[in-house]
Amino acid sequence: MPPRVPLILACVLALVVMTLASCGGGSGGGGGESTIASATSPLSTKAELGRLIFSDTALSVSGRQSCATCHDPSNAFGPSDKLSVPLGGPGMDLEGFRATPSLMYASYTPRFSIASDGTPSGGFFRDGRSPSLADQAQQPFLAPFEMANATPADVVAKLSTRPYLSRFEAVFGEDIMGDPTQVLAAIGAALAAYQTEEPGFHPFSSKFDYYLKSQATLSPIELKGLALFNDPTKGNCAACHVSRGVNGNPPLFTDFTYDNVGLPRNWKIPANQAGPQPSYVPQNGAALGGDYAYYDLGLCGPFNPDNAFRGSLCGLFKVPTLRNVALRQQLFHNGVFDNLNDAVTWYVTRDTAAARWYLKQDGTPDRLYNDLPPVYVRNVNVGEVPYVQNLAPTLDAQEIGDVVAFLCALTDGYDPQNPAAYRVPAQCAAAASAPP
Ligand code: HEC
Ligand code: HEC
Repeated sequence: MPPRVPLILACVLALVVMTLASCGGGSGGGGGESTIASATSPLSTKAELGRLIFSDTALSVSGRQSCATCHDPSNAFGPSDKLSVPLGGPGMDLEGFRATPSLMYASYTPRFSIASDGTPSGGFFRDGRSPSLADQAQQPFLAPFEMANATPADVVAKLSTRPYLSRFEAVFGEDIMGDPTQVLAAIGAALAAYQTEEPGFHPFSSKFDYYLKSQATLSPIELKGLALFNDPTKGNCAACHVSRGVNGNPPLFTDFTYDNVGLPRNWKIPANQAGPQPSYVPQNGAALGGDYAYYDLGLCGPFNPDNAFRGSLCGLFKVPTLRNVALRQQLFHNGVFDNLNDAVTWYVTRDTAAARWYLKQDGTPDRLYNDLPPVYVRNVNVGEVPYVQNLAPTLDAQEIGDVVAFLCALTDGYDPQNPAAYRVPAQCAAAASAPP
């Protein structure tokens, strides 16, 4: 991996790659434009429309799916089921390819860029293929395995039946209604405005936020976890999941860069399994000389064809925020882990206990980094703590528990006036009760 350059420098040196002409996307948020809205500020009419569209299932072919179906507002705008990848499509029975991310803090994501030293950062989706929130928000309406409309005109036909149509026309002008591409762009802008303006997407209300403001104290275990998280010789997590504030914002726990962490293949994803696949599943494995028929290579494809020629980017995925991570039951882009203890244990024993983690579909041992074709194994990050090849893990079981306890303190919804009401996910109760 190239050395990490400060984000601001990366932005100055950036070559902005636009994956799609962005249809008025700039106005509606994304691109790191967010500022912290006060909890009482009302939404603009555009954002209010976005709020209505966000949970309107009538805009999907199944009539049963909206953004909120996968990005559940009551679970940090992430999935609330246990599936590794979501279901969608006309009959709600088609599987997706990647775990659904939380949308919280997503509006702080800068645009995609590749710095002069080759370091990619920013962009929406786990492979950065969408340049803005407004562009991203148009895509689920048309994805065959999500909301499944065949064309923008199909979306407009559904929109025309909705009770908020007149408000939509008042905000965006009746003139655009004859141009489905513009209508879809306007829907994207409304959804982006909602995600940018609504304080619920970025409340900065975790126990750790109040600790930073000296309005809460972390327990001894959480404090140890924080120290291990930051220590370059122990967890070194903060090297990518940045734990200090940038540009006057509280910490976001991501630097929006990309890395190839060499995850195990998740056999619960139908596209990963042996046997016949629906026509929308790319069969890229044979051309890559791989053992399996389909590989998700992140930045270099198959969903982000722009960088296909850059072999060094194959297998890299965006560093996600760790805010609210304890509420997730599918971790990493392929959802291969369902709890934080496994995830952190894997980080520090990836290479030394490989037989525990890297399995074939039948449960027998597979080779290291089996979710990559052999040709791209060279891109796996092996040079940085906590990836310590052939050495003792940098965290022991106790220390892993401490790190998990700290991650739990990144859950939003702490009330310094009423600490007892803090919503503690089940896996955090176990971490908190571990002996100090
Ligand atoms: C079927 C489930 C599903 C539906 C419906 C859905 N999403 Fe998503 N969303 C996902 C998945 C899965 C990803 C990650 C896909 C990828 O990286 O290729 C994602 C990614 C995103 C991202 C990128 C986040 C980031 O950090 O880069 C945003 C923003 C987003 N969705 C917003 C929306 C909006 C707005 C809607 C409604 C128009 C919506 N989603 C509908 C599953 C869904
Ligand atoms: C070199 C950069 C780097 C370091 C160091 C690092 N991570 Fe990550 N982390 C990533 C990337 C990249 C991903 C997403 C990878 C993917 O999905 O393929 C990720 C994903 C995660 C996830 C899954 C989050 C989610 O929402 O799915 C957790 C949990 C996590 N990291 C915790 C940690 C902890 C704890 C440490 C320290 C022990 C750590 N990371 C160190 C880059 C890093």
